[in-house]
Amino acid sequence: EAALSPDRRLAGRHILVTAGPTHEPIDPVRYIANRSSGKQGFAIAAACAEMGARVTLVSGPVTLPTPAGVDRINVETALQMADAVASALPADAAIMVAAVADWHVEAAGQKLKKGAGAPALSLVPNPDILADLGASPNRPRLLVGFAAETERVLDHAAAKRIAKRADWIVANDVSGDVMGGEENSVHLLTETGVESWPHAPKAVVARRLAQRIADAL
Ligand code: CTP
Ligand code: CA
Repeated sequence: EAALSPDRRLAGRHILVTAGPTHEPIDPVRYIANRSSGKQGFAIAAACAEMGARVTLVSGPVTLPTPAGVDRINVETALQMADAVASALPADAAIMVAAVADWHVEAAGQKLKKGAGAPALSLVPNPDILADLGASPNRPRLLVGFAAETERVLDHAAAKRIAKRADWIVANDVSGDVMGGEENSVHLLTETGVESWPHAPKAVVARRLAQRIADAL
């Protein structure tokens, strides 16, 4: 039996992926964060590299190994992620999978002591990295966002596609046990409509998305 020749259609392309959470310090020992294992974003970076792309993976704090052939930039906060994304441009495509904290804290320089009473946290909005990229002169030709939703998944995702000037949104139904798990249920929203993909391992979702990216580029 002849082996299938590998799909290398992303050779010569630079693909930027964000993944994982961001951690926003409250003081030197505490932080706020979104829930994210980084698994789906790392799987997408791996799938794009397997198809020959040069991949820059900007990762928040996660415990995952770097996929083969991927250039990884580690960051902690949303502001650091925004800087790392800007410095990685230009890219042919950007896939923003990170669960970016929507706010950062005006952090204390010293550890807050519980005996001093519950602190009032002053929250400051973080930049929207995807929306800023959508409006940037350096916008990648293909810009893909994710939307983690617990209700009205398609409505919220469609609104985000328009508001952030993304070409596609991968809508992630996180009402089940997707967070941190090995499988994912997603819908792909494009300019032409919605495709609901079968519930599948995150690596399978990633390869399917990488193939669609190759089709589009
Ligand atoms: N995103 C980003 N920078 C942010 C917040 C979100 O780049 N500061 C990106 C995410 O990586 C994702 C998309 O925007 O690709 C949607 O993130 P999500 O948290 O679902 O949407 P928000 O616009 O932050 O809205 P909300 O959290 O209120 O649902
Ligand atoms: Ca958010």
